[in-house]
Amino acid sequence: MRPVLGIESSCDETAAAVLAEDGAVLAEAVLSQRDHARFGGVVPEIAARAHLLHLPGLVTDVLSRAGLRVGDLGGVAATTGPGLIGGLIVGSGLGKGVALAAGLPFVAVNHLEAHALTARLTDQVTFPYLLLLVSGGHCQCVAVEGVGQYRRLGGTIDDAVGEAFDKVGKLLGLPWPGGPHVERLAADGDPARFAFPRPLRGRPGCDFSFSGLKTAVAQVVVKFPQGALARQDAADVAAGFQAAVAEVMADRARNALAAMPGARALVVAGGVAANTAVRQALAATATAHGLPMIAPPLRLCGDNAVMVAWTGIERLRLGLADGFAVAPRPRWPLEEMAGA
Ligand code: KG4
Ligand code: ZN
Repeated sequence: MRPVLGIESSCDETAAAVLAEDGAVLAEAVLSQRDHARFGGVVPEIAARAHLLHLPGLVTDVLSRAGLRVGDLGGVAATTGPGLIGGLIVGSGLGKGVALAAGLPFVAVNHLEAHALTARLTDQVTFPYLLLLVSGGHCQCVAVEGVGQYRRLGGTIDDAVGEAFDKVGKLLGLPWPGGPHVERLAADGDPARFAFPRPLRGRPGCDFSFSGLKTAVAQVVVKFPQGALARQDAADVAAGFQAAVAEVMADRARNALAAMPGARALVVAGGVAANTAVRQALAATATAHGLPMIAPPLRLCGDNAVMVAWTGIERLRLGLADGFAVAPRPRWPLEEMAGA
């Protein structure tokens, strides 16, 4: 198979990449939209306009750096859901346009599947494996049984874990998105100073809940009079919150592994997979089960187009191209994927 172009535009990262069939990254580019920070969250219309502005340039750039023309490609893969509809329309529309012009197959990529399959690109993980998908919008345990074959074992009943990090970041007055800032601050904190709850720990099942933990953090923060939360106090709050999250994740992963006896690895993916405390807690859980814990390199934890192009390759190998009639889907659960 010839190289595949991947396009990602489902949230606030505009990205393009070209991969060879063996997964070698020929060129990649990610543009993180920083305009949203001053609004404290992604503004969908601003995001869509930014994708529209930057994506054609990024595609041209990765192709030229890979030394390829559109006609040299074997296919085009673009994220077509789930995500913000404006960005999905821009990215999948451009992807279809390129594929149409060059007579190439088009793959409508599910963003969650792209996160789910990244470990196969980076670590050649074989099916089946347990996936903990932990990002700003998603938090679930998934049995990954094949390309397109996903069984949801559990998920959050309120906030996604990245969302909880972002809300705690906001409470502590940190820039948005809060996750990486909370982690940095937590490095200087005492995780034992504040006793935060561990929602659902010890309960059966693989569901998550973070709203109670977030409320507990808010209750601690409001006890400090205006402006009296010193850096050390904030660091202790961040460390306590992060420790609670890591412990809960490990507990839920334990139950998920017990529910999936054939799993060959514990894979963590999504933006929160960048968090070292979370990685360490999950690695300990995996080791206790005699399994490897696989986390993508940091640059592939967040949204990127390498994972999209890779998903295109996995699907094209199995003859799973999509027609041009496929429509962008703001909501697109993994269990609704067609497999081989
Ligand atoms: O996968 P992603 O880039 O976008 C979504 O699809 O949601 O995940 C973004 C989320 C944000 O909530 C961000 O705060 C969180 O991942 N995140 C982190 C870290 N880096 C990113 N959370 C905790 N620790 C980090 N180091
Ligand atoms: Zn994502």
